[in-house]
Amino acid sequence: MSAPTLDWQASAGSALTGEVQVPGDKSVSHRAVMLGALAEGRCEIEGFLEGEDTRATAAIFANLGVRIEAPSASRRIVHGVGLHGLQAPAGVLDCGNAGTGMRLLAGLLAGQGFDSELVGDASLSRRPMARVISPLQAMGAAIEAGEGGRPPLRIHGKKTLQGIDFKSPVASAQVKSAVLLAGLYARGTTRVSEPHPTRDYTERMLAAFGWPVRFGPGEASLDGGHRLRAIPVRVPADFSSAAFFLVAASLVPGSDLCLRQVGMNPRRTGLLDALRAMGADITVAEAGEQGGEPVADLRVRHARLRGIDVPVALVPDMIDEFPALFVAAALAEGETRVSGAAELRVKESDRIATMAAALQALGADIHETPDGAIIRGGRLRGGDADSHGDHRIAMALAVAAQCAGGEVRIRDCANVATSFPGFEALARGLGFGLQVRQPVG
Ligand code: S3P
Repeated sequence: MSAPTLDWQASAGSALTGEVQVPGDKSVSHRAVMLGALAEGRCEIEGFLEGEDTRATAAIFANLGVRIEAPSASRRIVHGVGLHGLQAPAGVLDCGNAGTGMRLLAGLLAGQGFDSELVGDASLSRRPMARVISPLQAMGAAIEAGEGGRPPLRIHGKKTLQGIDFKSPVASAQVKSAVLLAGLYARGTTRVSEPHPTRDYTERMLAAFGWPVRFGPGEASLDGGHRLRAIPVRVPADFSSAAFFLVAASLVPGSDLCLRQVGMNPRRTGLLDALRAMGADITVAEAGEQGGEPVADLRVRHARLRGIDVPVALVPDMIDEFPALFVAAALAEGETRVSGAAELRVKESDRIATMAAALQALGADIHETPDGAIIRGGRLRGGDADSHGDHRIAMALAVAAQCAGGEVRIRDCANVATSFPGFEALARGLGFGLQVRQPVG
């Protein structure tokens, strides 16, 4: 599934100016395909993310017997088969690099009348799945994992699921969503509560598709036995993709950049609060709603950043943005402390260790702690930095390179296509110094 390995050569470009709309939201795109497939009727998705992760999810539903048309880039028409209309797949279901795909599908497939097997790439195959397997087993699902609760997941169908009152030990929208999706097929009520509120796209979208859901910050519940009715879905631009440009334009002198129609779900915008606390100059012009989600145009201008203690309560609201935040901190004045973020260690890579090693290679003063890092801001120099195949780390390092004293070689960047296809050209168009290199040997 993932492209052959690929390196970037990045260095200071020019001030970042102009305006841009980044690709569609990954979380929303996954869910739109899933709920569109289980709905009755024809679900038109606009702004679908043409990333490898979300395309893998669409391919899985095609394999489960759902007709999905792609009339043009970023559009999909999903011909829903209804809650009980999926068919047994041919072969294994490959989620590629996508934790969201695998964990949500585990919940959804647990309630089917057929067996299935979910597999992933090398990175996904190292990620913990017990966090979804145990609540699903408590509901009556039969799931076997590989060693240490890691993929592949073998899911046995024809099981009767029971609702559950699940108190999740981790703040994870993927865990919450897996349990809720299994709850569609369960008898009685399924309730999930979380230690900190996480993104609520599953709840919002289920409600928009007509399934009665009760939800508020940190809790959600639903009953089995309803139906989903197809509606059109407009996917907003992904805040997590916009995040790299928020940081880059804050850091590069002379920058003045506008990011259009960015999804502003409050459980996603923690980086905005953190950057503002650091002194960033970002204005938010509300631009209405898209697919039930608030969207806004964000204008970001260069400003001097200073270090902060990142409030622990903000961590779940910016969980995907720490690679970018670490770069901002490495170039800010003073010290930044991150804590309560141990979840970063089980993302596409161990994002604390990978970022610490990469930024140290560029001369940064950064120290890992078990659940975060302490970063003393200063200058960065050129050098060789490894993204370990983690899309968000590759992009964060490209941002760092815009402020480095020399050229930065960024290793293993092909997975950027999982969440942000076309990043290189788009970033170059805005002023980034960034070239793609085929690695030698
Ligand atoms: C996601 C939830 C988060 C996030 C991921 C997308 C989702 O993962 O990091 O990129 O779409 O539900 P966790 O649930 O593991 O925190």
